[in-house]
Amino acid sequence: MSTRRDFARQLAAEHLAAGDPTGWFQRLYAAADGNPAAVPWADLAPNPNLVRWLSGRAAPAAGSRALVVGCGLGDDAERLSERGYDVTAFDIAPRAVDWARERFPQSRVGYVCGDLLDPPAAWRDAFDLVFEAYTLQVLPPPLRARAIDRLASFLRTDGLAVIVARGREPHEPAGEVPWPLTRGELSRFVEAGLVEVGFEDFIDGTEDPPVRRFVGVYRRG
Ligand SMILES: C[S@@+](CC[C@H](N)C(=O)[O-])C[C@H]1O[C@@H](n2cnc3c(N)ncnc32)[C@H](O)[C@@H]1O
Repeated sequence: MSTRRDFARQLAAEHLAAGDPTGWFQRLYAAADGNPAAVPWADLAPNPNLVRWLSGRAAPAAGSRALVVGCGLGDDAERLSERGYDVTAFDIAPRAVDWARERFPQSRVGYVCGDLLDPPAAWRDAFDLVFEAYTLQVLPPPLRARAIDRLASFLRTDGLAVIVARGREPHEPAGEVPWPLTRGELSRFVEAGLVEVGFEDFIDGTEDPPVRRFVGVYRRG
């Protein structure tokens, strides 16, 4: 684990120094060359916090649309599709998008390349559910407010955004990528016009070693 994380951090540092904070993802996926063990976040299973959240909810109404942000290898998107959503899933790294399509050749998910910071206009007000795990925390803090504004903009009235991230107190150092978020950073969802309808702050033992986790749920009123 530490070797692949070290490699990811080295790539991130190179790209950040060059003023290209999101270019390293494509390099990382390309270097992995089809080996998920080389991708630090690739569990090849849906996010346990998404699975738990879905288990407490009724199936979506027919035609409900979900958007998965920074979809990686596609497991969260597939789970939402199984659950009954019409799913669009996007990632900035073309190799990740291709890889997800290769893994799930029969999929009903629409996998596309896209940049959360510069999304298609057609996604505005278009989704009943937006799911984001671990992408805000790999964006440098100065980009996060813009990213959150875009995330909020994707929701229809009464739509929900479910956000899963590492958490920290403001006085704690952010350390190396992935940089945990503060609760204050996530309050940007409220500034963007959403209502916080759930917030969990806990030690997540599904990760090894366990990490402090924030799971925020926000509704567009
Ligand atoms: C830490 S990984 C998490 C991937 C996936 N959500 C998961 O939990 O396995 C972050 C993902 O976000 C993607 N990403 C980073 N910046 C992005 C952006 N601006 N727009 C879309 N995707 C982005 C990366 O390529 C990467 O696949």
